[in-house]
Amino acid sequence: MTQSNVKPNVTAFFDEATNTITYVVKDPASESCAIIDSVMDIDYAAGRITFDHADAVIEHVQANGLKVDWLLETHVHADHLSAAPYLQDKLGGKIGIGKNITIVQDTFGKVFNEGTEFARDGSQFDRLLEDGDAIRVGAMQVEIMHTPGHTPACLTFVVGDAAFVGDTLFMPDGGSARADFPGGDAGQLYDSIQRVLGLPDETRLFMCHDYGPNGREIRWETTVADEKAHNVHVGGGTSREDFIAMREARDATLAMPKLIIPSLQVNMRAGQLPPADEDGKTFLKVPVNGL
Ligand SMILES: [Fe+2]
Repeated sequence: MTQSNVKPNVTAFFDEATNTITYVVKDPASESCAIIDSVMDIDYAAGRITFDHADAVIEHVQANGLKVDWLLETHVHADHLSAAPYLQDKLGGKIGIGKNITIVQDTFGKVFNEGTEFARDGSQFDRLLEDGDAIRVGAMQVEIMHTPGHTPACLTFVVGDAAFVGDTLFMPDGGSARADFPGGDAGQLYDSIQRVLGLPDETRLFMCHDYGPNGREIRWETTVADEKAHNVHVGGGTSREDFIAMREARDATLAMPKLIIPSLQVNMRAGQLPPADEDGKTFLKVPVNGL
């Protein structure tokens, strides 16, 4: 049951390096919160990892005396690295992702030629979530909606009058997410978007990314009504066939995200780096012609 009378307090943290938005979603009736889609900073050219973005989130949580119940991932991101384990270490909370992470782990376990020590059963996460599940953040309920298409494991988190849509929709002038990664499917994405647009018109929708199309300022919040009326890919009743044709033609022109190689290796491990070698050194791989 949707608790649309509940209005969570949402604080957004925009990451300029990857155009990702991390959300702290607080229960108005308690100090409990969830953190959705955190970011670990990487200077890929230098192989250097830092935590400025995550530290800003930690500062916000601590300054406001919040208790972190959950660290949620809308999906295995291909454009930034998750900081969930770093946040868990500092703030607590359980790490949750969609149950089809196992499909993603299987696909990219092969791409990165991982050995048997890389488990493909989702055991790196604290909880695997599936459609219809509900988890609690204080007195609030987070309803899990499985919204595949961009990836097989994509989730939308519905919290009271707000929904965190991951990479399904972008802002109305940005359209929708690509559906050409392994396991992606434009038709499934259309169906998932229709489910999101089936939420009440006034539902606040929070994007995972914004790129400020045509030079506008960065924005990340809209509504179901606004997307239905104005989304450049699905607004005004675009048909499934037209969407699939548009999405596939467009995806064929897109380059790989800059950080896909480090992102997948880290995010399929719930944000952990690959295990260190016998000298205590950590490496990421680059599969040649593997993607
Ligand atoms: Fe994504």
